[in-house]
Amino acid sequence: MIDLEQARRRAKERLRQQRRTSPGVKLTAVQHTLACELGYAGWPALGRDTERFAPVDEPDAVVWQGVRRVSVACLVRDPDAPGGAVLVLHRREGRWVVPSGAPADGEDVWDDAVLRIPMETMGFRRQETHPFALDGDRRHVVFWVLGGRYAGTRMDAAEVEWWTGPVADGAALLREQGDGALASLVEGADESRRSMTYERRAADVHRTLTGINLAATTAQGGSGFGGTDEEWRDARGKLVEALDPARLSVRLLDQACANGHLAISMVGWASEIGIELTPYGVDIAPELVDRARADHPSLASHFFVGDALRWMHPEGERFEVVHLLLDVVPPELHAALIQHQLDHVVAPGGRLVMSEYGDPPTARSAEALVTRAGFDVAGRTRQPTRNGRPRGCPSVWIDVSRDERG
Ligand SMILES: C[S@@+](CC[C@H](N)C(=O)[O-])C[C@H]1O[C@@H](n2cnc3c(N)ncnc32)[C@H](O)[C@@H]1O
Repeated sequence: MIDLEQARRRAKERLRQQRRTSPGVKLTAVQHTLACELGYAGWPALGRDTERFAPVDEPDAVVWQGVRRVSVACLVRDPDAPGGAVLVLHRREGRWVVPSGAPADGEDVWDDAVLRIPMETMGFRRQETHPFALDGDRRHVVFWVLGGRYAGTRMDAAEVEWWTGPVADGAALLREQGDGALASLVEGADESRRSMTYERRAADVHRTLTGINLAATTAQGGSGFGGTDEEWRDARGKLVEALDPARLSVRLLDQACANGHLAISMVGWASEIGIELTPYGVDIAPELVDRARADHPSLASHFFVGDALRWMHPEGERFEVVHLLLDVVPPELHAALIQHQLDHVVAPGGRLVMSEYGDPPTARSAEALVTRAGFDVAGRTRQPTRNGRPRGCPSVWIDVSRDERG
């Protein structure tokens, strides 16, 4: 991205140079060529695109069909960085830039374009997604996303040089290379992320995940997993190691269960080691709970709509095993999320099993997050694998003593 003033200066510089050899060359021709080189249809399009950006107050009010350009400030969670995240830039034609491009025909901006563009331009896999700035013409939307380097094989990920560091350093780097507008945008991205409310974040998660999960063509796809049945088993099957072999019959509740596929899969995996497991699930997205109930009608009453941070069984039932994905809330709420399960969801003498999705670095493994939240880990599964290679982090557990609660 470039701002209009920078583009004007560059065009005039180029005009001066070209007139030394071709005195008749016109400014409009130089501007047109420059605009095309920068990926615009012409100078007027560049002018529109480089207008000032305004904050997106209400994502649902954006006319997504009118969006012609998507830019993405890519952030990676880092508990030691200012604000808990670092910025990632990539190098393109000698400059540090953020991913930017046009939505392809038929693409949904939020579901598809903001996933594809960072992946294709810099091999970055988005997870949390939020649109925070829109240009005056409402044609160019800027998102910030939280995610990380793509380690899978199913999508075409670009391999380009990355710069990673605190957002303030990234903004300074961009200003140094003359991209002041982009520097302001990444600062705006960081501010927007830091000032996010829990409710807004939950609405974004719903918007980001539900459509994709519902459109999936496999059961594991409906739980947000892109891969075959074997890959699913490799990646998630290690969770069976978190079951206590001394308990031959357990009720397992999967918090953030999506279409319920993990809880259902656990029934089969547990039976292989002689444990009879009864599955339950809770998810914040009503559409996914409906899907779980429709896919498993005999278990319809076992699936509930709720927020893992607050949900309690309507009749106060507790579960011998609760599985929890830590990444369903921001890290500052991990302690409250875990404590809520221990106080209200796990049965006395039961076990809270926790996973972190994806392939996080050791500093953000489930074990690191649980320890950082102030709890002692009692045990862990082996590391999950993908196509025979280690991928992802072990799930960990906390045991609840029998007499801790009444
Ligand atoms: C990737 S799926 C997880 C499926 C399965 N539990 C697993 O571990 O494979 C993540 C699910 O978390 C749900 N979710 C996100 N935030 C949540 C919250 N605060 N409470 C409950 N569910 C939440 C989403 O709707 C989505 O269906």
